[in-house]
Amino acid sequence: MNDLFSLKDKVIVITGAAGLLGRQHADIVAKAGGIPIVLDINRKDVEQLATDLQEKYGVLSSGYAVDITDEAEIEANCNFLLSQYGHIDGLVNNAANNPKMDTSSSKNFSRVENFSRSVWEADISVGLTGAFLCCKYYGFAISRQGGSIVNISSDLGLISPDQRLYRKQGIPDDQQPVKPITYSVVKSGLIGLTRYIATYWPKENVRCNVICPGGVETEQDPVFVKDLCERIPLGRMANRSEYQGTILYLLSEASSYMTGAVISVDGGRTVW
Ligand SMILES: NC(=O)c1ccc[n+]([C@@H]2O[C@H](COP(=O)([O-])OP(=O)(O)OC[C@H]3O[C@@H](n4cnc5c(N)ncnc54)[C@H](O)[C@@H]3O)[C@@H](O)[C@H]2O)c1
Repeated sequence: MNDLFSLKDKVIVITGAAGLLGRQHADIVAKAGGIPIVLDINRKDVEQLATDLQEKYGVLSSGYAVDITDEAEIEANCNFLLSQYGHIDGLVNNAANNPKMDTSSSKNFSRVENFSRSVWEADISVGLTGAFLCCKYYGFAISRQGGSIVNISSDLGLISPDQRLYRKQGIPDDQQPVKPITYSVVKSGLIGLTRYIATYWPKENVRCNVICPGGVETEQDPVFVKDLCERIPLGRMANRSEYQGTILYLLSEASSYMTGAVISVDGGRTVW
């Protein structure tokens, strides 16, 4: 059983690793005996994370400040990793711009008619271009001996945001906050990227799958949480550790015959 889920000596690159879920992905990779390579634009946090993982699990984790929108930085990091470890076995395309919900200004920026091209391009740049560039370099490196790519989409890659969830009292309809359009576009795009890559390197035994997670409960407004939970068959949001099992499954040999799969892990949200 342990062998089936083992990541022993597997070098796994995780983007956006200093964030809420990236840390969880890195933790399960290390726990399964893998070598998490944690990348983030936030140097201090990602280096500290790598040190914490080394101390906790005795693994060769290392952390690097890499902006995944910068092709030269990715190429340099990929070449460095290959010189250090000799191989890269897995990639978790996790980084994304956290969409901001604007409730304060008189002209709500999140609404389509106000949404600026610069925010659109910045969100696409991290969420889609970044994932493409990581496939281009780390994915190609994985294709030398085979391995697994896991993309992190969202339940909102499968369904449209229910904008009623984000409504605030006392705000006119044309200024109500909405989940930004880029979130849906990025998360749907990652499903297309997954299917493309799944059929691109199959002979090289590169598998590529995508997880569509539901929302994690953190410190959201209780009214929002209650309304959202009414739309989730399991009746609650996720705990931050509840995607670790799926991540481990997809990175390990336990999923050796799975590629191109779109996996909802959302408490049933997209079933209703
Ligand atoms: N948290 C949730 O409820 C939830 C639900 C569904 C899907 N997701 C998805 O899971 C992933 C992780 O979410 P999270 O909640 O941990 O987000 P987060 O905002 O906590 O973490 C994202 C990380 O990405 C990093 N990042 C941003 N731009 C970058 C860049 N250019 N290069 C490198 N790193 C960059 C940030 O510094 C941050 O550490 C995202 O793709 C998100 O859309 C999250």
